[in-house]
Amino acid sequence: MSQNKILVTGGCGYIGSHTIIQIIRNTDFEVISVDNCLNSSEDTICRIEEITGKQVKNYNVDLRDREKTAAIFEENKDITGVIHFAALKAVGESVEKPGWYYDNNINSLLNILWCCEKYDVSNFIFSSSCSLYGNVSQLPVNEETPLMPTESPYAHTKKIGEEIIKNIIHVNNVQTISLRYFNPVGGDYTGKNGENPISRPNNLVPFITQTAAGILPKLTVFGNTYDTRDGSCIRDYIHVTDISDAHVNALQYLLDGKNESNYEVFNLGTGNGVTVLEVIEAFERVTKQKLNYEIGPARPGDVAAIYSDSSKALEKLGWKTKIGLDEMMDSAWKWQLTLNQEKEMKS
Ligand code: NAD
Ligand code: WQD
Repeated sequence: MSQNKILVTGGCGYIGSHTIIQIIRNTDFEVISVDNCLNSSEDTICRIEEITGKQVKNYNVDLRDREKTAAIFEENKDITGVIHFAALKAVGESVEKPGWYYDNNINSLLNILWCCEKYDVSNFIFSSSCSLYGNVSQLPVNEETPLMPTESPYAHTKKIGEEIIKNIIHVNNVQTISLRYFNPVGGDYTGKNGENPISRPNNLVPFITQTAAGILPKLTVFGNTYDTRDGSCIRDYIHVTDISDAHVNALQYLLDGKNESNYEVFNLGTGNGVTVLEVIEAFERVTKQKLNYEIGPARPGDVAAIYSDSSKALEKLGWKTKIGLDEMMDSAWKWQLTLNQEKEMKS
């Protein structure tokens, strides 16, 4: 049987769903998803279908359940690659509930790797995070930048996750890439898919769009006395579709056997650091509206500035970002308008 399926874990989530869309748009692979909708909804599968015209099957399975996870591989003997997005990801929540984060993120990873070995799936892509670099002083951050102590249990699950993968694939034939994302933002250009936080958002851009939509009363800028060009923190915001495209390139790179070792790491960022106030300014300019915001105290644990050197991904994966800050804001706002409309129709 020809191997032509890609299994995406966390396919109902933010980055997983955008990646499914880009796989369908740009390749001939069939995609299946496994997501227990811990932080998402199966409505996303309908959104994917609406955008791409293709039906994607989601298995509503908790990846911590090895038997049920294995049953998915048993039913789909033609899986050629796994993209493993499924994880809990809220930094603050991980500090409050570290045990839950380790249990979910590590056991899911162990089970999916176990299935890859058992069912001979030899291409594996892992969602890693810039948060594993910790509080670095050298900028921009490249893949050789030494990892500093992690600032949260969440970040630690990514660090341990990478270590686990390296150890396990040492003794099997799974070819792996870890992609370390910086700050993914925005939504599909159609306005029909985007980030849909189940509870109060933690990240800047959904906070901005929900404030503009009147769902949240005000945005607080966390600090304006950092040693940066306008005093607010600098981050490397990257459009989610650019991140998704990198997964397609990484998959093809593995399938073409271009990898030099069975474990490679790539940063995914634009290489441009942008301040919080610049993000707000872009949002106001693009959407032609004033945002209700105030300057507040710095958020504990925030670093002043972090941005990526992604030249390795360009050189080896042939990938670079195509989408700028204005489009990030525009697509995030379009998506918020879609959500507003849906809410209105329901009420
Ligand atoms: P998300 O919460 O939108 O998506 C993750 C999905 O995984 C959710 O739909 C959730 O229901 C599912 N899931 C979680 N645990 C599961 C389990 N045990 N079994 C089955 N499904 C499970 O998050 P996202 O923003 O799309 O992030 C995807 C990946 O990228 C995560 O691994 C995250 O750590 C990583 N990442 C995200 C960011 C970011 O800012 N969004 C940055 C760097 C890395
Ligand atoms: C961005 C900037 C805040 C909210 C986190 C994770 C990281 C990765 C990406 C998963 C910061 C400022 C925010 C607000 C603000 N995720 N801000 N007011 O903290 O850079 O990274 O998401 O792997 O691991 O730590 O992202 O979106 O929370 O913050 O001023 O209400 O916006 O101080 O400078 P962060 P963020």
